Amino acid sequence: MSRGFFITFEGLDGSGKSTQLKLLARSLRASGHAVTTTRQPGGTELGDQVRALLLNSKTRYVAPLAEMALMFADRAQSIQQIIAPALAQGHIVLCDRFTDSTEAYQGGGRGLGSERVLAMHRAVCGDLWPDLTLLLLPDLDASLARARRRNVRQQTQDADENRFEAEERAFYERVYSQYREIAARDVLRVVTIADDAPVDVIEKRIEKIVEERRLLRSR
Ligand code: TYD
Repeated sequence: MSRGFFITFEGLDGSGKSTQLKLLARSLRASGHAVTTTRQPGGTELGDQVRALLLNSKTRYVAPLAEMALMFADRAQSIQQIIAPALAQGHIVLCDRFTDSTEAYQGGGRGLGSERVLAMHRAVCGDLWPDLTLLLLPDLDASLARARRRNVRQQTQDADENRFEAEERAFYERVYSQYREIAARDVLRVVTIADDAPVDVIEKRIEKIVEERRLLRSR
């Protein structure tokens, strides 16, 4: 069976990527495509435990290398259990975050550097890279404000995933600039959506990009 199509969504917390992933999944399914959605960290039994461990603000100190290794442990599980089988069945796989997140957050934010992250990617994921990455990178302040509002909501719902959100602004500046570097380096794979247009405008733009890319690949 033909290999499917692998799409990842990237961006800062509060960039709107999870909303856009859901909308794209809905529209692809409505046009009859088989779609698998997942997220990192998480999506598998092991991944959900890694997620709880890494994201809960009660987890005090995690060494940056341990954090990177756990992100890749989650990814290894996700590839074997979800992504590779779905692609082998010809599905369009939509994944909320992938290795670019590790390069941006651990490589950039935590200062581990890109080389270490990319070396670990080769060891764990081989040559599996997304066919297309949608990088939602609106203004840094707009993203941070949105993430903060959401955290206040989440706190009242007892779902504490705020360890990263507690980071200072300088951390997010490093994440942001690492994302821009990735996009500049990998212009064929990464499409950056940098403005803060309304959700439905971005939705339509993403649908068009995905359609063009899939046509290009099928030629
Ligand atoms: P996510 O659930 O996508 O958060 P949000 O919905 O707020 O964007 O991701 C959780 C957090 O994990 C996010 O702050 C980024 C971080 N993260 C890393 O630091 N490295 C990684 O490799 C991944 C996948 C996520």
